[in-house]
Amino acid sequence: MKNSNENMAGQAGEPKKEKNSGRRRFLGLLGIAAGSLITIAMGLPVIGYILEPAFQKMQRQWVSVGPVSRFTAGDTVLVSFTDPSATAWAGETAKTGAWVRRVGDTDFIAFVLNCSHLGCPVRWEPSSKLFMCPCHGSVYYADGTVAAGPAPFPLQRFQVRVSGGQVELQTRPIPVA
Ligand code: FES
Repeated sequence: MKNSNENMAGQAGEPKKEKNSGRRRFLGLLGIAAGSLITIAMGLPVIGYILEPAFQKMQRQWVSVGPVSRFTAGDTVLVSFTDPSATAWAGETAKTGAWVRRVGDTDFIAFVLNCSHLGCPVRWEPSSKLFMCPCHGSVYYADGTVAAGPAPFPLQRFQVRVSGGQVELQTRPIPVA
């Protein structure tokens, strides 16, 4: 008798156990789904922020650095301008410059300021006709090629044009040769 009662109690408990385990599984899946949704909702802006530059077109714009009459043939002079591709909140960091040399009536060469080693601004030495980097001693010839390392590459150049009597440089976020 005792055995049959135990058997009956055991049989009655089985469906309850199954019901509980089914509910637990459902709640577990619900928790995973909710967690996944929250993760996706929180992660999308971060992913968008990281991937956005890859889908943006490189902005290239012409900026004026002064009238042609400002430049004397053969001289290399420092010009400054505000990078039009910089973000609105860039502030002072949007101000940049270039070394511009007039090589003919309407022919100009413009070098970026930054050393190809680690980006320090180079300076032009008219007496030696060399660009010198104060940070680690790189030296560049007048045409921007490397005279002494550790600079790995020549100085990069801007494209230059004369438009409406103004010398204009083509800017871009990261100038490349
Ligand atoms: S940054 Fe110019 S030599 Fe290092």
